[in-house]
Amino acid sequence: MMRFERWPAIAVLGGIVSCLLSVGVAGQSTSAATDRTLAAPASFAGIADPAKRSAAYFTELGKVLTNPRCTNCHPATDRPRQGDSARLHQPPVFRGVDGFGLDSMRCTNCHRDSNFDPGHVPGHAGWHLAPAEMAWEGKTVSEICVQIKDPKRNGGRSLEDLIEHIGKDTLVGWAWAPGAGRTPAPGTQAQAGALVEAWVKSGAACP
Ligand code: HEC
Ligand code: HEC
Repeated sequence: MMRFERWPAIAVLGGIVSCLLSVGVAGQSTSAATDRTLAAPASFAGIADPAKRSAAYFTELGKVLTNPRCTNCHPATDRPRQGDSARLHQPPVFRGVDGFGLDSMRCTNCHRDSNFDPGHVPGHAGWHLAPAEMAWEGKTVSEICVQIKDPKRNGGRSLEDLIEHIGKDTLVGWAWAPGAGRTPAPGTQAQAGALVEAWVKSGAACP
């Protein structure tokens, strides 16, 4: 079976550290705590100007892109963040050359193929950090929009590829089934995919 012998001690330690940290961040609101829904593309039909309507789809999608379920893995530094308060990952782990961590502390030492809820450890077979050029943490929705369209900063993807990636990719999909102790991203993955599609087909304008 799975080998998690080292888990209890790490989980307890992590729990203590996160309690201490959460004292410092209590009072901050996160997007996860506010709006839990995504509007359907049809609800923007009243915006006559196509560019304004396109930008409005992206603004709505921005609720997902700026959610901690995404930004914790698309951080501004070499360190992932954790939880709804987006605290720095404990224990300290770093991107490493391939996004899977340093040789001494690989993501896969702890993150397995699926969520491991007794230790609140999120999991997916491809669990690793998004490359530095895909950092979203701390950026505005407008900045993310420009960046996500740029093949030099989106992994060489076309706009069509983005519809598929956000709407269907299973690592992205983890954000809507993140396991105990974390609030899922707003709406559903299918609704997010529908917004990306509406945005691309209306000219992919940025807010
Ligand atoms: C476990 C970490 C992890 C999580 C969680 C995660 N991503 Fe990513 N993301 C990655 C990695 C790694 C890549 C680079 C993979 C590649 O280029 O094939 C990436 C690339 C992307 C890309 C393509 C490049 C870009 O920035 O335009 C998009 C779009 C994306 N992620 C969307 C999301 C969305 C939306 C969420 C939340 C709903 C999310 N991701 C959550 C790790 C993550
Ligand atoms: C020593 C074990 C360990 C290692 C190694 C590790 N993690 Fe984690 N990680 C955890 C635990 C435990 C949690 C859950 C903490 C919590 O939220 O209570 C976690 C949570 C996360 C989260 C938070 C997800 C969310 O939205 O809340 C991200 C992102 C993450 N890890 C990324 C990584 C990446 C990327 C690597 C490799 C560079 C890595 N981790 C290596 C133990 C580890």
